[in-house]
Amino acid sequence: MMWNFQNIQELAKKEAKAITTEQELESFRIKYLGRKGLVSDIYASLSTASDEEKPVIGKHANILKSMLSQLMEEKKRIFLEKEEKFLRKDIDITIPGVVNSIGHQHILTQMIDTICRLFEGLGFVVREGPEIETETNNFEGLNIPEDHPARDGFDTFYLDQPDPENKEWNLLLRSHTSPGQIRIMKEHKPPLAVIIPGRVYRPDAVDASHSSMFHQIEGLLVDEDVKFSDLKGLLTVFCQRLFGENIKMRFRPHYFPFTEPSAEVDISCYTCKGKGCSVCGQNGWLEIMGCGMVHPQVFKAVGYPNGKYTGLAFGLGVERMVMRKYGIADIRLFYENDKRFLEQF
Ligand code: PHE
Repeated sequence: MMWNFQNIQELAKKEAKAITTEQELESFRIKYLGRKGLVSDIYASLSTASDEEKPVIGKHANILKSMLSQLMEEKKRIFLEKEEKFLRKDIDITIPGVVNSIGHQHILTQMIDTICRLFEGLGFVVREGPEIETETNNFEGLNIPEDHPARDGFDTFYLDQPDPENKEWNLLLRSHTSPGQIRIMKEHKPPLAVIIPGRVYRPDAVDASHSSMFHQIEGLLVDEDVKFSDLKGLLTVFCQRLFGENIKMRFRPHYFPFTEPSAEVDISCYTCKGKGCSVCGQNGWLEIMGCGMVHPQVFKAVGYPNGKYTGLAFGLGVERMVMRKYGIADIRLFYENDKRFLEQF
């Protein structure tokens, strides 16, 4: 069979001219140069062609093939040019892109997480208690009866007029995380080791060092033979891990109604390394937490058998830790959401 090569060439040229999209170009390629396309049909016909036809068909098939390739190359070049022109004209790739600012954890959350992870590494579990508490859990259970002078230090937000007969139902915003101790011990028997982070509330006038809401972290460890030396050892390891091996510590005798004996923990000021500066009030020490051995009265309140268990407890203020660590002078900065402040941590 002979092919009408001239017709084929003209048709292909016409078709190529009309092509406007990449898809059309691909259909064109498949039609002529594809595996089942016209050119391969032509080559296939060689097997049945006569000896005279063979060289003619072969020659024209080759010519057709290279012409088709050229037509396609030409189209591709035009497409590319158009694309480049478009890019040059309408898109200025030198304009800076829109950058979405990505947030990160608040410095207080970072500190809470760091401290919780540290204690988890020492075998503690993290538990949270509610911010709305009963008067019993916040005070009575912790050996702070109503007429106790220690209550003066815990001015409190009550949710309702308190009923002196019904403390179990007097609701308040917890003034410390220590009621978490009562909740854990009422639910679980020793041995137990828990860390309780959370928000606490006190109706203090807001100033550079006071806020009506701040964060505390409570720790409680109860077992049959817990000693004051365990408390010292535990808190020493904790402070060394958080502030570095070289930190100096001291335990100052103190009073809390729910621990006996009680102490406050000071660390050497890391701004001046103990020499005295404005961060530590010139005395070289920073108070960072309260602690002590759980008062037998507290064990009684949660129904533990008399004399069977001993325990240690501690509580620290998160804002204060961060302020001392970074020399931040005003507590209000934590809550103002000013990115210039937040971005520094
Ligand atoms: N709850 C005490 C406070 O808010 C801190 C504390 C906790 C002290 C546990 C001793 C033991 O001041």
